[in-house]
Amino acid sequence: MIRVQGLTKLYAGVPAVDDLTFDVESGKVTGFLGPNGAGKSTTMRMILGLDRPTAGTSSVGGRRYVDFPAPLREIGALLDAGAMHPGRTGRAHLRIGARSNGVPLARVEEVIDQVGLGGAAGRRVKGYSLGMRQRLGIAAALLGDPPVLLFDEPVNGLDLDGVRWIRTLFRGLADEGRTVLVSSHLMSEMQLIADRVVVIGRGRLIADEDIAGMLGGLGGRRIRVRTPQVDDLANALGPDVTVTRSGPGELEVGGLVASEVGELAHAHGIPLHHLAEVEQSLEEAYLSLTEGEVEHQGQVLGALGEGASA
Ligand SMILES: Nc1ncnc2c1ncn2[C@@H]1O[C@H](COP(=O)(O)OP(=O)(O)OP(=O)(O)O)[C@@H](O)[C@H]1O
Ligand SMILES: [Mg+2]
Repeated sequence: MIRVQGLTKLYAGVPAVDDLTFDVESGKVTGFLGPNGAGKSTTMRMILGLDRPTAGTSSVGGRRYVDFPAPLREIGALLDAGAMHPGRTGRAHLRIGARSNGVPLARVEEVIDQVGLGGAAGRRVKGYSLGMRQRLGIAAALLGDPPVLLFDEPVNGLDLDGVRWIRTLFRGLADEGRTVLVSSHLMSEMQLIADRVVVIGRGRLIADEDIAGMLGGLGGRRIRVRTPQVDDLANALGPDVTVTRSGPGELEVGGLVASEVGELAHAHGIPLHHLAEVEQSLEEAYLSLTEGEVEHQGQVLGALGEGASA
């Protein structure tokens, strides 16, 4: 388990991470979400002892990272996939990590297979695509077979197959009882891979809850209904119900379940052409949560657009 308590980091007096407190449980994939500049990478660096907090603490399995004699065996991390010696082969990169952490060299071949690097492992890293670097970075994180794993934007640069693979990998790691923390601004991905989400904005905690709760909250469920008699239906639904027009001949109804909408329509003799619950996406939930927390509006929208096409 990862425990973050009152974690704060100031850069030139400006908070990048601001009194952040949350736990990351084992056996789950926890998504770490927030707009660009929210403080995700800074938080992860502090958990890994790479940045010194201005205030607060973080611990992994009850101990501070700096107290681990062989850190790779305790916590695996992918932070910056670009941070590899370009002249080394992927295999050499992994062997160095293995040697310095007392990991048997046979494990290097295992993780090369696990991430599907195969034939590329003997090539120099400078010739790797971004996706191959991500795979190598993930292999390095898995090297020490650690119970806790931390991935900063691991989906970046992966093609559709890569994204599917990563989803299965993370699920499997969590099912083995490991603690998996994954940062991303790709909502569509988090919705598919995370059990729980920690959302931050401007360094502060905005939400910390199960995906289901996050999707169920925020205005609750809505029902989408299509009818040639939208005005009649809107009147029939009564004053305590929120009704919005979502398109020609279409309404979105809040405050009733689908069967209630259907029965009211029937009682008033109004024909329905469509009646269904609207699934709220994590992206919508995230946007409504982070309204006002976005520092770089254009970048965030760009990033979300990228997510939609990935
Ligand atoms: N070494 C540094 N020196 C000064 N400011 C920094 C440093 N590292 C991060 N910051 C600032 O801290 C804030 C948080 O940055 P951080 O990289 O943690 O955000 P992030 O959530 O990872 O964003 P992204 O989604 O873009 O990766 C930003 O305002 C950033 O400019
Ligand atoms: Mg970052």
